[in-house]
Amino acid sequence: MKKIAVFTSGGDSPGMNACVRAVVRSAIYHGLDIYGIRRGYNGMIKGDIFRMESSTVSNIIQRGGTILKSARSKEFKTKEGRQEAYEQLKKLGIEGLVAIGGDGTFTGANLFFQEYGIPTIGAPGTIDNDLYGTDYTIGYDTAVNTAVYAIDKIRDTADSHERVFFVEVMGRDSGYIAIPCAVGGGAEIVMIPETKTTIDKVVEALRTGWSRSKTSFIVIVAEGDEEGSAVEIAAKVQKAVPEMDARVTILGHVQRGGAPSAADRMLASQLGIACVEGLLQGRVCEMAGLMNSQLVYTPFIDTITKEKALNPNFSRMIDILSV
Ligand code: F6P
Repeated sequence: MKKIAVFTSGGDSPGMNACVRAVVRSAIYHGLDIYGIRRGYNGMIKGDIFRMESSTVSNIIQRGGTILKSARSKEFKTKEGRQEAYEQLKKLGIEGLVAIGGDGTFTGANLFFQEYGIPTIGAPGTIDNDLYGTDYTIGYDTAVNTAVYAIDKIRDTADSHERVFFVEVMGRDSGYIAIPCAVGGGAEIVMIPETKTTIDKVVEALRTGWSRSKTSFIVIVAEGDEEGSAVEIAAKVQKAVPEMDARVTILGHVQRGGAPSAADRMLASQLGIACVEGLLQGRVCEMAGLMNSQLVYTPFIDTITKEKALNPNFSRMIDILSV
């Protein structure tokens, strides 16, 4: 293998740039020609592919977002789109790919390999931390810290006005972001898709809190919670507790931006190198991850289909800590 290319795809995450840097520099270290593909699979289809040098990735380790841009490609889901992507890679003689992204990215790479035999290795780049095969995904640590920083500020105003704040965090259909936000942000209640927290339970927690002289509350709502969005949940609780003075904050994409934490830079660098070395070892359709601090490669199919179970003790922790 002489020529490989790297791309970022799906929702961006802090640390993607550090991972791109590690891929580029380790490719050069191992004597490979390295190309960058802009805008994920969309750029692959359009042939938006350029040669990268060590200097192309200078001064990016500390930057959020991705210098390669990202996209969720509808076209790559079509047979014609993938055919075009293959033609573009063939034209440049690219023999291997490093994909930095989440489950959608790996689903596409798996299919592409089955159809055209281009080996791809992946690095888990998503704030959601919902991929089986790694304890942490690149960007998760930063996203959680960003959210906790914001929750600290919300707590100040919640306390001054003696209000109940419903704070919605990202995470798609997982509570991985919500749990450390609730513990680290000192929340009274957390609502995540993995466990059922009814509106009655929220009402009861508020009433118990007031009876114990608590005057403000933070309720963390994971965006995928079965009771609905933070706005919907707040409205339902308001109906049951008309005297409640409530506000809703949706942290949204704020969580996806900003300089990556040191932990994310470290993880991204380790996994970027592991991707290139995995390709050179002949690995195909696997994601590099760290489990119990050990480097592991997990088939894409497992990262997508196997459940990464959330520790059930975490919700209990919040019940204990909010007494
Ligand atoms: O997968 C990362 C993520 O930020 C999820 O937490 C969220 O549900 C989704 O992406 C938002 O996607 P978009 O930026 O396309 O709205």
